[in-house]
Amino acid sequence: MISTESFQEEEKLENSLRPMKLDEYIGQERVKDNLRVYIEAARSRKDVLDHVLFYGPPGLGKTTLAGIISNEMGTNLKVTSGPAIEKPGEMAAILNNLSEGDILFVDEIHRLNRQVEEVLYPAMEDFAIDIVIGKGASARSIRLDLPKFTLVGATTRAGLLTAPLRDRFGVVSHLEFYTTDELEKIIRRSAQVLNVEIDDEGAHELARRSRGTPRLANRMLKRVRDFAQVKYDGRITKEVADYALTLMDVDKDGLDRNDRMILSAIINKFGGGPVGIETIAASIGEDAGTLEDVYEPYLVQNGFINRTPRGRVASALAYESLGLVMPE
Ligand code: ADE
Repeated sequence: MISTESFQEEEKLENSLRPMKLDEYIGQERVKDNLRVYIEAARSRKDVLDHVLFYGPPGLGKTTLAGIISNEMGTNLKVTSGPAIEKPGEMAAILNNLSEGDILFVDEIHRLNRQVEEVLYPAMEDFAIDIVIGKGASARSIRLDLPKFTLVGATTRAGLLTAPLRDRFGVVSHLEFYTTDELEKIIRRSAQVLNVEIDDEGAHELARRSRGTPRLANRMLKRVRDFAQVKYDGRITKEVADYALTLMDVDKDGLDRNDRMILSAIINKFGGGPVGIETIAASIGEDAGTLEDVYEPYLVQNGFINRTPRGRVASALAYESLGLVMPE
């Protein structure tokens, strides 16, 4: 269990490493190229940017990109999340407090409840909210105009959104895992910000074992820095990185304990598969949605798990990674 204090520290660290401009942002080239065009077009028309939806696994830069959009547009950023807004009135109040051009970032937007979500429909489409006054036969609805704003939504999977909400985003961008090269650049940039020395092999080792995810790369960099200071001479080398990552339970393939638990369940409890995601989830005490959105994408993309119509199957790579021999 992570304490509140260290959680806040983590968040502070993460914020200090976020790039502020599109040009400083490493990776996601297609997403960046498109955003550049949309931002420039909106600015030259003196209009607001279309609503933007970012989807993809956690830690790939959705919040960072929302911040960059607000910086590049020169507007305010308001941040909230799906589970934080419980009542339609709360959403109406947030919208009513926006200023012209503001960016409203809603993280985990798929977790908005239905009534709250319905407030967003006219807000996104017509920049208005409908308020019902009175009850029963005398009830009537009045329309309240809002300033023009941009909604930036983030979700782990676009398929989790209802169609009416998804359809109201003008820009829908999928964030992908970062390559080792990109992560190396991010790690070198972060090391500079943190004022810690890291050599090429050290950066490569960290990048290779970061699950394609900048948030993990930056977290690990910070932890590895501590080991470098206390156990070595302060410089992050491959040896230091390997020592620290092993202690942090990140294996040679960059898989963490949860990844290995999933692979081990498929192989040892279900004969290598095929097995359904719900069954795997129940067997390791994890939520099926979390398994599917958070852990599985990396394992599938990197060839540890194959998805088949009959369920998930462990690949030869999965056996090899756990030091097992795949049966004939
Ligand atoms: N820090 C976290 N993600 C980053 C990115 N994509 N580019 C630069 N620095 C980052």
